[in-house]
Amino acid sequence: MKRKLVIVGNWKMNGSIADLKQFIKDLKPSVSDQVDAGLCVPYTLLSTLKEEANGINFKIGAQNMHYNESGAFTGEISPDMLLEIGVDTVIIGHSERRSYYNETDETVNLKLLKAIEKNLHPIVCVGESLEQREKGMAKDICKRQVENAFKGVLKTDAENVILAYEPIWAIGTGKTASSEDAEEMALYIRNVVKDIFDEITADKIRIQYGGSVKPSNVEELMAMPNIDGALVGGASLKAEDFAKLIDLNI
Ligand code: PGA
Repeated sequence: MKRKLVIVGNWKMNGSIADLKQFIKDLKPSVSDQVDAGLCVPYTLLSTLKEEANGINFKIGAQNMHYNESGAFTGEISPDMLLEIGVDTVIIGHSERRSYYNETDETVNLKLLKAIEKNLHPIVCVGESLEQREKGMAKDICKRQVENAFKGVLKTDAENVILAYEPIWAIGTGKTASSEDAEEMALYIRNVVKDIFDEITADKIRIQYGGSVKPSNVEELMAMPNIDGALVGGASLKAEDFAKLIDLNI
């Protein structure tokens, strides 16, 4: 049976309060219980998102958080700060954070453990670079990232984690992985989860694909048996496009 799709937008460093209010107003008619939808916005927009999305099935997501509870970490946000304003979801280890802000498998693991402890719903990103893919290392890279992320995680918690397979070469480039390639990697990642935990956990966990998902390719990708959703950058900025991504009949 197909797992419930989870389609989440990532606004990255874009958007204003006015943009977000209009966006949610326009998007609301397309939000349903069929698909789990949500948006990860900059910290300054989270309270507005919480207010505007009141009463609909919609995830209120941050794009990052620190793994410490508080302290001398200038510019960082703690899990409790997110929880206090109603955030329920957090992206961990996005490739932009790994490459521009030195996030490592180790910090990803610490953040995942903390998110689980705090009951924040984590979306953990993994994926290879173009160079790594060309060298035939895509699977090894994803395996290492998934194994390291899950160190010390209990299987009862693991099944609620969302994994996002995001090949770096497909992010923001307009180049989408073919649905066959994305499916092959999602299946591979599911088998890695099976080896770490067990078949039941691997069967329950939702694996998103991310990288230039848009209205023209979403149905084909989401129809793949091991792809259970999408993490969407560019096409989540316009309500008209994002509405098409969450209004699916699969
Ligand atoms: P994109 O970004 O959809 O613009 O390629 C995806 C992501 O970074 O999650």
